[in-house]
Amino acid sequence: MVLRDKIAIVTGGSRGIGKAICEALARQGARVVIFDVNAAELQNCVTELKAAGFDAEGYEVNVAQADKVEEAVAGVIDNLGRIDILVNNAGITRDTLLMRMKEEDWDAVLAVNLKGVFNCTKAVSRPMMKQRSGVIINISSVVGLMGNAGQANYAASKAGIIGFTKSVARELASRGVRANAIAPGFIVTQMTDVLSDEIKGELQKQIPLGRLGQPEDVANLVVFLASDNASYITGQTIAVDGGMVMH
Ligand code: NAI
Repeated sequence: MVLRDKIAIVTGGSRGIGKAICEALARQGARVVIFDVNAAELQNCVTELKAAGFDAEGYEVNVAQADKVEEAVAGVIDNLGRIDILVNNAGITRDTLLMRMKEEDWDAVLAVNLKGVFNCTKAVSRPMMKQRSGVIINISSVVGLMGNAGQANYAASKAGIIGFTKSVARELASRGVRANAIAPGFIVTQMTDVLSDEIKGELQKQIPLGRLGQPEDVANLVVFLASDNASYITGQTIAVDGGMVMH
């Protein structure tokens, strides 16, 4: 178990990729704290993790609200004493072509996907700097690297995460805190369930490894980056996309 007794916060951890990340971290011995805005799914996920014998708890938090995030992080420190790992995974889409994109579509996506990452990272940075250790992992997207028609808001938020990650990595490196981003390709979750079979088929053709990804494909990299096996890696963006984007 490479993460024995580590305290990990996973935002948006109640389903999809976030849930797989929670399970993978817990299997490696971490104590998992989920921040999620969906109270019912949060409750279900915590109950499931506990039933599987893992150590888990949930906080109903909207990551876009700085004061709520600060409160929840203070709660974790009060209860558990430290924070070793933060996985900024919460994200939403409001897809439409630029011409039809409303200001609310832009603001909502940027508020959760980018400001949410800022809020959570800022809140944990103080305890991590004090501890002189910590790992921050931000879930970006290949769309942040390639762009995608119909996702200008989402792509901007995910590209923003990459610049943010590099800056945080530079600021916190001397305090023993590492920050990296993961850029998943097309992963099978409720977020991508909405795509038609035709679009999924088209996407598959663009993936050298010939299949859509599974949440576990992302979770496996999170475990590696969170562990001491990645102690010399910071400021990077690593794609988990079956080879769609090659640098
Ligand atoms: P999902 O929609 O299945 O799960 C997202 C989770 O985030 C849900 O539990 C939701 O309740 C939570 N959430 C949403 N807004 C929140 C807020 N304001 N505060 C707290 N929690 C909030 O999505 P999925 O597919 O699991 O995606 C997870 C992350 O991976 C997202 O950041 C997404 O952009 C990213 N990603 C997903 C890809 C995919 O193909 N599924 C590809 C590339 C990136």
